[in-house]
Amino acid sequence: MKHNHKELLFSISLIIFAILQPCILAAASHGNTKANSSFLRRRQLLQDHDNHVDPTFQFPNSHLKNAYVALQAWKHAILYDPYNYTSDWVGPDVCNYTRVFCASAPYDSSLIVVAGIDLNHGSIVGPLPEELDLLVDLTLLHVNSNRFWGTVPSTFDQLKLFYELDLNNNFFSGKFPDVLLQLPSLKYLDIRYNEFEGPLPKELFDLSLDAIFVNNNNFQLEIPDNIDNSPVTVMVLANNHFRGCLPAGIANMSKTLTELIIMNNNLSSCIPMEIGNLINLTVLDISYNTLKGHLPELFGELKSLEQLNIAHNMLVGSIPESICSIRSHKDNVCLPDYEK
Ligand SMILES: *[C@@H]1O[C@H](CO)[C@@H](O)[C@H](O)[C@H]1NC(C)=O
Ligand SMILES: *[C@@H]1O[C@H](CO)[C@@H](O)[C@H](O)[C@H]1NC(C)=O
Ligand SMILES: *[C@@H]1O[C@H](CO)[C@@H](O)[C@H](O)[C@H]1NC(C)=O
Ligand SMILES: *[C@@H]1O[C@H](CO)[C@@H](O)[C@H](O)[C@H]1NC(C)=O
Ligand SMILES: *[C@@H]1O[C@H](CO)[C@@H](O)[C@H](O)[C@H]1NC(C)=O
Ligand SMILES: *[C@@H]1O[C@H](CO)[C@@H](O)[C@H](O)[C@H]1NC(C)=O
Repeated sequence: MKHNHKELLFSISLIIFAILQPCILAAASHGNTKANSSFLRRRQLLQDHDNHVDPTFQFPNSHLKNAYVALQAWKHAILYDPYNYTSDWVGPDVCNYTRVFCASAPYDSSLIVVAGIDLNHGSIVGPLPEELDLLVDLTLLHVNSNRFWGTVPSTFDQLKLFYELDLNNNFFSGKFPDVLLQLPSLKYLDIRYNEFEGPLPKELFDLSLDAIFVNNNNFQLEIPDNIDNSPVTVMVLANNHFRGCLPAGIANMSKTLTELIIMNNNLSSCIPMEIGNLINLTVLDISYNTLKGHLPELFGELKSLEQLNIAHNMLVGSIPESICSIRSHKDNVCLPDYEK
């Protein structure tokens, strides 16, 4: 299943350059002190770096020059790069750097910009530097399976075209990076297998994401009750410390939600009756929680289910025959093995 997601993700990545809407890059906004100070900080940063850019280097445009500054800052922040992913990150031709991808800017097809960076499986040790916000045209950043630590720089809110973030399997920590809630184009967010903690912000469910992967972190407290604002097809909250109820609003996700995985948390009660509305759900895993009481009869309405796991809870009752009779040939259905 995970494999399929990766394939899906890959195909999404391939088409994004084609579908991104033209977008106005507002370098500075009027009357907005935060934007202004961030603009001033960036200008300062550029001036500082400018003094260090080899004056003999020629850049096709200022975006690629800024990209050079950002990538050099990142290279220097990296402490260990065992597979030499960044060793050819030298010289002005940033589009030739390993794992850096250039494309025409969506708002100006004659402007070549850095659109994506993919450092997946590099075992690289280091932080994400603030200077990454100089990559204003970045749409895609994949750093899956490295040893990056720290958090997502607050300067990321400058990346107005940013579309796809994969931080899967690193050592990022701290609260959920709120800066991600301010990225208007963000579609795909994968922060699983890190050390994030604290609550999930409600605003996460207001984003127009395709999928949410926050599993295997240390997130806590209740699952926000506006969960049904989220248009995702796949939501994976597993292996955290969520407690309380599965919000009843889950029922309102029937048009979109196909996979819901909340295994190994601390949900203690209330599987909402309304869960039966999720007729397009193919995977439901709420095993390894402390759910009590009777299985909602409406489980029987989950006609698309291919994989159901409710094991290791304190539920009583039986899986409705309507599910078992349809799909008893599948191994992973009708194996409740719930405790009595
Ligand atoms: C924004 O920065 C400009 C200088 O670039 C300054 O003149 C202006 O007063 C600033 N505006 C605010 C609201 O801070
Ligand atoms: C990376 O570069 C160093 C120095 O050039 C070299 O010793 C090492 O073998 C390279 N590692 C890989 C995985 O290519
Ligand atoms: C890009 O890299 C290739 C090989 O890695 C090299 O032959 C070529 O000269 C480089 N192009 C530029 C413009 O630096
Ligand atoms: C669930 O809560 C109990 C008591 O608060 C705690 O001891 C336990 O570690 C929690 N388990 C998870 C998976 O969060
Ligand atoms: C579903 O959405 C409607 C409209 O937004 C809302 O009134 C209702 O309370 C939601 N259902 C649940 C169970 O939250
Ligand atoms: C289930 O998905 C199909 C498309 O795959 C869609 O047409 C249908 O409306 C969905 N069901 C509900 C209840 O929205």
